[in-house]
Amino acid sequence: MPTVPAESVLDAPPRPPLSPNALRRIVRDLAERPERWLHRVRLSAEDRWYERLELAQDYEVWLISWLPGQSTGFHDHGGSRGAFTVALGELEELALAGPEHGLTVRRLPSGSERAFGPQYLHDVRNTSPGPAVTLHAYSPPLNEMSRYELRAGGLVRTATEGPEQW
Ligand SMILES: [Fe+2]
Repeated sequence: MPTVPAESVLDAPPRPPLSPNALRRIVRDLAERPERWLHRVRLSAEDRWYERLELAQDYEVWLISWLPGQSTGFHDHGGSRGAFTVALGELEELALAGPEHGLTVRRLPSGSERAFGPQYLHDVRNTSPGPAVTLHAYSPPLNEMSRYELRAGGLVRTATEGPEQW
């Protein structure tokens, strides 16, 4: 009986990352199937609550809940591409429009989608009076994230975290 050489699986080259639009389709499809995630949602008064729903070689999916006032602060995604959708409630996103431009503020009502490349920095917050739930996809899976503070000269990196801090 022919055998498959072990190295054909073990030494498979890493897959290229998914595009922001492919990640957007993943979170959109999941948002349309609340039976797959709604029962898992929890709320935490201490900080945003989150749980990973899927982990594949080339992407991962997270479920996050936000009480009023909870926010991420400015952060990057360690070189991963990403997308998220607001499945329930409403959020606000702050992002730099470019080095020569100021901050943009986007209101993200339920059904909003955002998709971004590997250099993207943003601050996502729940400024609404009620809870919100979001679905996020990242490719490759998040390996590190840096935090930034907004100062007079722009955003300054203040910390880098790995998965053990999440
Ligand atoms: Fe983010």
